[in-house]
Amino acid sequence: MACEKKSVSNFTVRVGLVLFAGCILALISLGTMFRHNAVPLQTLSLLFSVGSASSVMWGEERIGSHHSGRNEGPVLCDFSSSRSDVCELKGDVRVLPNATIVHHHPLARRRSWRMKPHARKNDRHALARVTEVTVASSHAADHPAPRCTTNHTAPAVVFSAGGYAGNMFHDLTDVLVPLFITTRRFGGDVHLLVSDAQPWWLDRFRPLLRRLSFHDVVDMGRGAGAGGRGVLCYPHVVLGLEFHKEMSVDAARTAGGYSMADFARLARRSYGLARDTAIRLRGRGDGGRRPRLLLISRKSTRAFTNAGAIARAATALGYEVVVSEPSRQHAAALASFARLVNSCDVLVGVHGAGLANLVFLPAGAVVVQVVPLGGLDAMAAEDFGAPARDAGLRYVHYAIAVAESTLAGRYPRDHRVLRDPAAVRRDGWAALREAYLVGQNVTLDVHRFEGALRRAMELLR
Ligand SMILES: *[C@@H]1O[C@H](CO)[C@@H](O)[C@H](O)[C@H]1NC(C)=O
Ligand SMILES: *[C@@H]1O[C@H](CO)[C@@H](O)[C@H](O)[C@H]1NC(C)=O
Ligand SMILES: *[C@@H]1O[C@H](CO)[C@@H](O)[C@H](O)[C@H]1NC(C)=O
Repeated sequence: MACEKKSVSNFTVRVGLVLFAGCILALISLGTMFRHNAVPLQTLSLLFSVGSASSVMWGEERIGSHHSGRNEGPVLCDFSSSRSDVCELKGDVRVLPNATIVHHHPLARRRSWRMKPHARKNDRHALARVTEVTVASSHAADHPAPRCTTNHTAPAVVFSAGGYAGNMFHDLTDVLVPLFITTRRFGGDVHLLVSDAQPWWLDRFRPLLRRLSFHDVVDMGRGAGAGGRGVLCYPHVVLGLEFHKEMSVDAARTAGGYSMADFARLARRSYGLARDTAIRLRGRGDGGRRPRLLLISRKSTRAFTNAGAIARAATALGYEVVVSEPSRQHAAALASFARLVNSCDVLVGVHGAGLANLVFLPAGAVVVQVVPLGGLDAMAAEDFGAPARDAGLRYVHYAIAVAESTLAGRYPRDHRVLRDPAAVRRDGWAALREAYLVGQNVTLDVHRFEGALRRAMELLR
């Protein structure tokens, strides 16, 4: 599921690129004027007037040193990322109960715009579940402000936990890791204003949210009724979350050099996980200490049909094997699954959201990703391979052979589904998803897979 949505957005970007190539060319000279990081608000109306081209136009640009030497204007918006838009408002910022932000600053121009503060900005499916925020900015004189119910001195970050909430990969890559990137510089003294968050979502991730902010989370969707929270005022609001890369952090772009390894450490601390480092095997016959291996067994799609045989092979190689599947949505279930993951040294699973639990592994542990048929290797490596390495883990990529896919029993050998995934992909996202992500289970060739299990064992030495 993880990958499904992402490719939708990649596809959208590609379509956008073609459709708006003309506009981009016309705007290139303008683009060079704003080569460095944030776009001044003055260009907002222009960007908005070209619609989707705005996101595409800035999509390839790197932000560079985002927090050093930045222009300290009262409004600073960054539309350069293909994944998220971020605006910073300084001065007198009032957050109304109806998803409206009123901003005053003597130097602010009179503007109003709308944003969906979620790090999946080209994905219409995800954004359908994200509340739009209206911002009205002006110098104080021309705009009567609603009175503050509460006047805070710390900054606030406004974001949506909607989108694909409940899918662990999306919760991390679209919300929690970007939230870490965006809030870290405030050292905990920051208010988190979240919309579209179900109570179970807040319960599930509250331990992590508490580490990011020592103030109570403000649920924008609730408490707005009679005697509700009213108008909240801040001297500084960040609207939207910074996104760097899939489920990871580019330390060079953070103010304090924070990395994905720091996020993983924070995740382990949040859930009170005991192990910070994986087992270190010393040569052969290591005094009977067996590395623990967790086999994630998906139940309906991309399932292992021979989990028992895989577990036996791993046991024979010297692993202590646990077979389990994470359950969605229950807070207590996440905490206990996190403990199980942390007790292990190797995590094995077919490409899918369950692998996102790698954030709970102790440093130096090994992630083995089993990649099904369908030309999914690059996406699989980007979703979990790079994040694993960035988090201080080792990574083994196991691309299955045709014979290891249940598709081999369903289609004749020369069928395009087996022979030419690229052609299926050209039929569109739905065809790819149906053929390879929903329509396929995995029967590992245990002897072939032993190579990957041995490699994982070597990486623990
Ligand atoms: C929100 O409420 C304010 C004040 O009551 C009003 O001026 C504004 O138009 C409302 N915004 C939206 C988007 O409904
Ligand atoms: C909020 O408090 C600050 C500091 O006391 C003050 O300067 C500011 O005017 C107050 N803002 C509002 C809207 O009450
Ligand atoms: C994959 O395995 C699951 C669990 O046994 C089963 O429910 C599902 O129908 C299988 N899917 C395919 C495409 O074989």
